[in-house]
This record gives sequence, structure tokens and C-alpha cells, in this order.
Amino acid sequence: MTDGKPARRRLLKSMLAAPLLAGFGPSMRAFAEDAATPITSADEALDVFDFERAARAILPPAHFAYLATGVDGDATLRANTDAFEHYQMRVRRMTDLRNIDLSVQLFGSTWDSPIFLNPIGSQRAFHADGELAVARAAKSMKHLQVLSTVSSVSIEEVSQARGEPIWYQLYPTDQWDITRALVQRAEAAGCPVLVLTVDLQGGSNRLTMQRGARMDSRDCSACHLENPKSFGETLARKPMFSGLDMSKVMSTAPLDMSWDYLDRLREIWPGKLVIKGIVTREDAELAVEHGVDGIVVSNHGGRAEDSGRAAIDSLVEVVAGVRGRVPVLVDSGFRRGSDIFKALALGATAVGIGRPYIWGLASFGQEGVERVLAILRRELLIAMRQAGVQRIRELQPGVIVGHRGYGLG
Ligand SMILES: Cc1cc2nc3c(=O)[nH]c(=O)nc-3n(C[C@H](O)[C@H](O)[C@H](O)COP(=O)(O)O)c2cc1C
Repeated sequence: MTDGKPARRRLLKSMLAAPLLAGFGPSMRAFAEDAATPITSADEALDVFDFERAARAILPPAHFAYLATGVDGDATLRANTDAFEHYQMRVRRMTDLRNIDLSVQLFGSTWDSPIFLNPIGSQRAFHADGELAVARAAKSMKHLQVLSTVSSVSIEEVSQARGEPIWYQLYPTDQWDITRALVQRAEAAGCPVLVLTVDLQGGSNRLTMQRGARMDSRDCSACHLENPKSFGETLARKPMFSGLDMSKVMSTAPLDMSWDYLDRLREIWPGKLVIKGIVTREDAELAVEHGVDGIVVSNHGGRAEDSGRAAIDSLVEVVAGVRGRVPVLVDSGFRRGSDIFKALALGATAVGIGRPYIWGLASFGQEGVERVLAILRRELLIAMRQAGVQRIRELQPGVIVGHRGYGLG
């Protein structure tokens, strides 16, 4: 993966110098900015962005661009991180801070931390150990891991590395037989929670990803089909589709999907069913009416629509729509413990991270993922101490203030 690095650095440096880059969105700039002095070991990292620089230095351009990309002008990507400024911590003094407890309850299980690892496809594109390294880190740090439909390692192998069943994320294919086969395989692997992702149905115009692929001059035929005959043929290379007849699959986000799809899924899935990608009060209410067990507020890390609306802002109205009937989880843009603190205060039960742990994975494998989790946990712990809060459930709207017209629900 490091082949051609000096040449690539020169290319990226010249790109950076080009005034042309000023017109690109933040995902393209993040992708093109050269790593100043990337860290050389995981324990040197001071925050998760140290891993971003290290990942950018080591990954091939196409792979880093796949990770960094937003859509269109990156408005949502930018909003996801900027919007934490809409909410501020209310800091308290003079409380006993000796015993801070970060644990949360979710569907009858207790987790040491409210931070979970979001589903991210194709993790072997970032490190040879891919999802297995992440599972080992999740195991050693006792975090919840959600496996993607388009993973590069099968659910059976990842569950084994994790040491217990993991949650499985489902992309709704347009062929019911294929979807059912995926669901049955997850059930057979002992998966307790199925997470249906619904935020890519409208399409996603990932420009940075396409530009990165154009810049990458490597021979990629060992991993990618050069001229796939169909989308199904490309997908068939993923372990979760092995042995399935993929010839008719045209999409993992069918245009005709509506709420009855959820009802249908409910009939074939005996475990907990969570919907991922809800960003409005109306859809949250409909999801609860259709019997979901949980909701993930998410805009796919700014890689779905270019609405310009941050996940943390959507969280407020979703929590209001749900009215405590099911747990609300959230992801997209979380980079600091104080970000996580704010979401928990706004009513989230748990907070997912995507890119940050992949930066850790790409740079230092399992150790990098562990260090990312340790940094975020420590930052959250410090934020809780500063707010004078000992337990996650004490994180209520009173520990933050919303400003510039951002209400607290
Ligand atoms: C490279 C990449 C691949 C992703 N693959 C999936 C996927 O297979 N399934 C899914 O539901 N979400 C996927 N997501 C979205 C994440 O689960 C999550 O919503 C998002 O990364 C959170 O935002 P963050 O990266 O800003 O933390 C992916 C995100 C990235 C960056």
C-alpha cells in the first residue's frame, strides 16, 4: 500500500499549491492535504485527527478518497462537525468526581461505554486485517461493533474474532431472496440486532471519491473487477454474498422501498430491528409505529444527501418524535468526547463513530483502533467531570445550552 508514496506526496503537494483546490469541498481538501508529520506509533496520537493525517499518508489515493468523501459540495459533511458549536457544555464546579461511570444499557446488554463502531464497508481497503482487527479492538476495549453488509470479512469470522455475536447492518437489496438469505445468515451467526440502513435510496453523488479514483494510477485488478457486467457481479465478490445468485441484483437501495419493506423484514427477523438514517421527527414517528426497536440518527457521515443539515441538529427533533419509546442512537461527525457528551445530553443512548476508527485501523491496525477508542473515552470522561456529572443518564439537556436559535427539544 505504501508503494509510490514519494511520487504521491509530490503530486498531492502540487495539488495543494494549486489555487484550483480552493474551489473544492472539505472532503477533497482533507483528501489532498499532505500529512505534515504523521505520527509513527499509535501512542503518540493526541487526538483522533493525528490518525487522520497518518491514514492519509499511508493509504492509496482512491482508498483515502473513498473514506473522506462527502457528496456534491460537502455541505452535510461540513455541517456534521461544525454544528457541535450550536451547543455548549454548562460546566459545574465543586462536585465529587472520583467515580465516573460511562456504562450504558442497550437492549438488555450493558456496555462499558456509549461509543460504538459504525458499519463501514470494505475494511480491507484500509488495512490487511480489516474487520478482524476492528473486532479484536472492540473485544479488548469492550465496545459494540456493527458489521457492514459489504464487509470484506464474513460475519462468522468477525463474530469469532469479537468473541461474541455482533450487530449486523443490512443494505436492502432489490431481490428479496438475497435479502432474506443475508438476514438468515446473520441470525445463524447469533446476531442479536439487525440495523437496516435507509439513507442512500435517493442516490449519493460522491465527487471526492471519483476524483481520488482518477488520481490513482495503480493496477487495481487484483481486488476490483475491471469491467463488471453488472452491479450484482461486483457485489458477489463480497463474502456475505458468496454462494448467492447475484445476477438479478441491481441495487442496495431500491427506489421502491417504503415502510411496508420494514414490515416485511420484521416478519423474517426474530431479533431486535433498528433503522439507520432517520433525520426527521415525522420519519422517527413512522418508524416507531412500524415497530422498530431503535433508531440511528445518521446522514451516513455526510455521504448521503447534501442537505447541509448536521446529524446533531436532526437528533433534537428525532428524540422529540420518539418520546422515549425506543432508544435513539446517533452518528456522523463525532470527533471529540465533548461532541459525544452533547449528543448524550440531547437524548442519545449511544454514539457511533465511523471515519475516526478507520483512520486508526489504516495507520496502526488493531492498536490504532484501540487508541482511537481510548482517546474518545478519555475525552468523554473529562467532559463529564467538567460538567460535574457522574453517570451517563445524568446527561440531560440541563448540562448544555443551545444557541443561535438551536433549541434543546
Ligand atoms: C468509508 C465508509 C463506508 C461506509 N460504509 C457503510 C456501510 O457499509 N453501511 C452503512 O450503514 N453505513 C456505512 N457508512 C456510514 C457509517 O456507518 C456512519 O454512518 C458514518 O461513517 C458516521 O460518520 P463519521 O464517519 O463522520 O463518523 C460508511 C461510511 C464510510 C466513511
